[in-house]
Amino acid sequence: ATERTLSIIKPDAVAKNAIGDIIARFEKAGLRVVAAKMVQLSEEKAGGFYAEHKERPFFKDLVGFMTSGPVVVQVLEGEGAIAKNRDLMGATNPKEAAPGTIRADFAETIDANAVHGSDSAESAEREISYFFGNDEICPR
Ligand code: CMP
Repeated sequence: ATERTLSIIKPDAVAKNAIGDIIARFEKAGLRVVAAKMVQLSEEKAGGFYAEHKERPFFKDLVGFMTSGPVVVQVLEGEGAIAKNRDLMGATNPKEAAPGTIRADFAETIDANAVHGSDSAESAEREISYFFGNDEICPR
């Protein structure tokens, strides 16, 4: 089925000037960008996005990293978009990411891991509405 998923190009990948290379991988895999913006996240906005990890030991570092520079937030649309995006990204820890995945090619550490992608239909819905109003999404 056609799905939508939220993708974030994280501060490490933006700093590397890899925005275009990463979006090209989405497009080449048949995903369409239907919303996009560059934002500098506040602590509050980043903390709210990752609220499910609030009690985890890595939460403070995660929020610190996600607010360390601008990010590019996008909605990707396409057949099986949620799983497709996760396949393109590779494992959360770049050291475990399969060759040819975005994290294997662009990421260094588990925090600076280049991209985020929704992990389920439920999180996709929550994450998309956390960043975009309906009037900011352009079906195509
Ligand atoms: P992301 O997919 O954005 O979701 C939560 C982020 O927390 C994850 O990518 C990692 O960048 C970061 N993180 C840091 N340490 C861990 C860990 N031990 N397990 C999972 N995620 C972690």
